[in-house]
Amino acid sequence: MSIPISSSNKSKILVSGGTGYLGKHVVGASVSSGHPTFVFTRPATPHTPPSNVHLRDEFRSLGVTLIEVSLFLSLKILHKCYNLSSIFSLHMTNRK
Ligand SMILES: NC(=O)c1ccc[n+]([C@@H]2O[C@H](COP(=O)([O-])OP(=O)(O)OC[C@H]3O[C@@H](n4cnc5c(N)ncnc54)[C@H](OP(=O)(O)O)[C@@H]3O)[C@@H](O)[C@H]2O)c1
Repeated sequence: MSIPISSSNKSKILVSGGTGYLGKHVVGASVSSGHPTFVFTRPATPHTPPSNVHLRDEFRSLGVTLIEVSLFLSLKILHKCYNLSSIFSLHMTNRK
């Protein structure tokens, strides 16, 4: 007998970059399929485009959980926690 890890039989999906051009379609597909959906995105700032802010609101209204954390801040924390010498990050960002 397996031990359930969630009350839902749907798998939980996290989309990193879910507010992006491609990612929003992945989020839409995940939500439409009934998966508990999480989006990893940077905290909004005064420079965040209104379209991005609107999309976050739309996601929240659909029940999406937004995890608003900078990937680079996360890497800095990992750097400290694991006493790493170097990190090679190959993500792309286009925020001005
Ligand atoms: N679009 C294309 O035709 C295409 C073609 C080939 C390959 N790709 C690749 O597919 C990927 C996605 O493309 P896209 O066009 O959808 O990009 P995009 O519209 O620029 O979206 C980028 C996403 O990454 C998030 N992001 C950026 N920096 C972040 C950080 N430091 N921490 C957390 N989240 C961060 C952004 O979230 P926030 O701004 O909300 O924080 C946004 O959701 C890219 O790697 C791109 O090179 C795209």
